[in-house]
Amino acid sequence: MLRPLTVRTLIGNRRERGPTLLSVKSAVDMNPKKNIFLSSRNNVDEAVEKLRARGIEVLGVVCHVSNAQQRKNLIETTVQKYGKIDVIVSNAAVNPSVDTILETKEAVLDKLWEINVKAAILLLQDATPHLQKGSSVIFISSITAYQPPASLAMYGVTKTALLGLTKVLAAEMAPDTRVNCVAPGFVPTRFADFLTSNDEIRKSIEEKTLLNRLGTTEDMAAATAFLASDDASYITGETLVVGGGAPSRL
Ligand SMILES: NC(=O)c1ccc[n+]([C@@H]2O[C@H](COP(=O)([O-])OP(=O)(O)OC[C@H]3O[C@@H](n4cnc5c(N)ncnc54)[C@H](OP(=O)(O)O)[C@@H]3O)[C@@H](O)[C@H]2O)c1
Repeated sequence: MLRPLTVRTLIGNRRERGPTLLSVKSAVDMNPKKNIFLSSRNNVDEAVEKLRARGIEVLGVVCHVSNAQQRKNLIETTVQKYGKIDVIVSNAAVNPSVDTILETKEAVLDKLWEINVKAAILLLQDATPHLQKGSSVIFISSITAYQPPASLAMYGVTKTALLGLTKVLAAEMAPDTRVNCVAPGFVPTRFADFLTSNDEIRKSIEEKTLLNRLGTTEDMAAATAFLASDDASYITGETLVVGGGAPSRL
């Protein structure tokens, strides 16, 4: 069961153009009784309007996660408004390249590290003083973390890093804050469009699952909401694979 008056900060939520793993609908599915705090790189107005129209109290702020000032503003604005943070979902990620690792340009390596790993750490450094006893942090990794495929090589490695980060931060932040991770299988969002919109590739992905389908944003939101909730109050340092039975684990 989720605590009432929980302040959830969802980092990296798209404002438009179809679904995202933690979309507007998914955010609502997390059943916030009162407060939800959204951030996005460019604009959150559309997401905020949709949530407010459904009676959800929500605050949105633009935050490019690699911008130190914007990260600080994100945390300060949340705390000014709500006085605390209970849950952080670190969802923002990029995958700018399909090159092999040996061919990946230095600027791309830097960007992957900066957005997918470093920014998540820096944001938590800013947020930690405001996290409540019983709070929860959830990283969004990927099933590719376990065996990065060729077309997602360095991206997959950054997601592997989140598995380690989850273990280390769970120890550092215990006992007041639980730190867990969700490793989604493939979901047809803008992010995975280059794979899932190709019939042949989509079919081969589906065939690797035991459930014979791609994941949905709702599947991922449900797992994330569970880890954020008090139902998961004895779970920390773990990664929940939500991949329809596709092969995973190191
Ligand atoms: N789709 C899949 O098959 C799949 C599988 C495994 C894991 N994942 C993971 O799931 C998470 C969400 O991805 P998605 O599939 O829902 O794709 P998506 O809709 O493209 O979401 C990616 C999100 O990251 C945000 N973002 C990117 N760079 C950012 C930055 N510098 N600052 C702030 N926000 C930034 C984007 O925000 P904007 O609104 O500003 O664009 C967007 O909300 C990612 O961590 C991804 O690695 C996805």
